[in-house]
Amino acid sequence: MNMPWKKTLEKKAVKFYKLGAHDWGHMQRVRKMALEIGSKEKADLEVVEAAALLHDTGYEKTPEKHEQESARIAVQLLVKIPSFPKEKISRVKTVILSHRFSKRRLDKSIEAKCLRDADKLDAMGAIGVGRCFFWTGEHNEKWGAAVAHFPEKLLKLKGLMETKTGRKLAKERHAFLKKFYKKLKKEEG
Ligand code: NI
Repeated sequence: MNMPWKKTLEKKAVKFYKLGAHDWGHMQRVRKMALEIGSKEKADLEVVEAAALLHDTGYEKTPEKHEQESARIAVQLLVKIPSFPKEKISRVKTVILSHRFSKRRLDKSIEAKCLRDADKLDAMGAIGVGRCFFWTGEHNEKWGAAVAHFPEKLLKLKGLMETKTGRKLAKERHAFLKKFYKKLKKEEG
C-alpha cells in the first residue's frame, strides 16, 4: 500500500532493529504477513503496517518489557510525522502494547490479531527453527533450552492463532516444526 508516511517511518525505525533474532528482517517478515492477513481480514492496514513496523523497537533496550518501550517509541516517532493520521496513533499504541500473547493484555481488535498472528508465524517453520537457536545463543542459554522451547512454546503456536488467514498460514509451518523436532530428538538419541 502506498502510504506517504512509510519511508519516513522506516528511516526512523531501522536503528532500533539491530539484534539478531529481532532484527530488521524479522520486522519485514512480520509486516508482510500482518498485511497479508490484514487485507484478507479487512483490517485497517495503516494501523497494521505502522504497528508491525514499530512493534519490536523497544527490544534492544528492554527485552522483558519491550511492548511498553516499543509503544512509547511508536508514539514519539508517529507524532512527529505530519502525514500519519493523528487519530490512529493511539490505536497503533494499543496494538503494540498487546502484541505479546503471553502477556494476556490482549486487545481484541482485528489489527491486534493480525500482528499477533504474524509475529507467531515468524516463530514457526524453518525461520522459526533458525530463530529459536539463534535467540538462545544470543542470550547465552544452553542447547537444552532451545530444544525445550519446542514443546513448551513453538508447537503450541498453531493452536493460538486468532484469525482464519493466520490459521491457514500456520498449518505448513507447524507441520515443519513437528517434523524437525521429531528428527532432532531422534538424532539426539
Ligand atoms: Ni516481533
